[in-house]
Amino acid sequence: MNHLSKRDIVILVGLLVIYWLVLFLASLVISIYNLYFGLGLMLFILAYLILFSFRQTEQNNQKSFYQNYRQIEELKSLHSLIKVSAPLPSMRGWAISPDFANIIFSLIKETKPAVVVDLGSGVSTLISGYALRQMAVKGKILALDHNEKYVQISQTQVEQHGLSDLAEVVLAPLEEIKINDQPFLWYKFDWSKVNEIDLLIVDGPPQKIKNSRYPALPVLYKYLSSRAVILVDDYCVADTKAMINLWLKEFGDLKLEIINTEKGAAILRKN
Ligand SMILES: C[S@@+](CC[C@H](N)C(=O)[O-])C[C@H]1O[C@@H](n2cnc3c(N)ncnc32)[C@H](O)[C@@H]1O
Repeated sequence: MNHLSKRDIVILVGLLVIYWLVLFLASLVISIYNLYFGLGLMLFILAYLILFSFRQTEQNNQKSFYQNYRQIEELKSLHSLIKVSAPLPSMRGWAISPDFANIIFSLIKETKPAVVVDLGSGVSTLISGYALRQMAVKGKILALDHNEKYVQISQTQVEQHGLSDLAEVVLAPLEEIKINDQPFLWYKFDWSKVNEIDLLIVDGPPQKIKNSRYPALPVLYKYLSSRAVILVDDYCVADTKAMINLWLKEFGDLKLEIINTEKGAAILRKN
């Protein structure tokens, strides 16, 4: 009984009561043979449901075991690539996963960006900072966040990791903008201050706002450098896939590469 919750026990007792009630009512109107047949059928359905839920749980456990193991491998790689000067904040969940962090590192190594814009500050900002430092790239990171609490947290982390010379975290509350007469919420920021973005990391605003990340390209396309790379997290989310398909239609000179990460990653390169 240790593994059953109170809710499970209530369901079991409820089923038993329903079963007795059905049996009692059925015995008033049908023969004993039909009753046995019905009982057998019920037991068969119950056994099927138990086996089905057992297999589902087994499959889910296997998937999460595989993902957990993979993220540990990715985390080990990450720590062999960068030497952190303070503990990194927890990854996964709201933050990027270790596999995505490794992609940021690889892209910075490959492209040596002078300007990185990180939409949605956090671990991504720290990894970008460490990568720039490690590659001795004279680059700067501008990390935007719409939420004051997370701006504070990210700013403190940037300081703790000694990356203040490379990364700036800026509060940019969301405001309504219109794109092709359609309303969207987007970071309130004077983009003319940002020139020639070489690496754009799209991991904000939060996905719970419908189409929250779509404005990233319509607004920022003209600020991208000719060799710009756009890295998008959460490609597994249907909205993100739809958004990227729209971008590909609207901006003809982008090449898409999809990477099979925990949350799915998409890399768009200007040709
Ligand atoms: C997907 S998160 C960005 C994560 C960031 N790129 C990172 O690597 O940690 C998007 C936004 O969610 C907000 N956020 C971050 N952590 C959160 C949490 N634990 N609960 C609610 N919102 C959070 C922040 O405002 C952040 O900009």
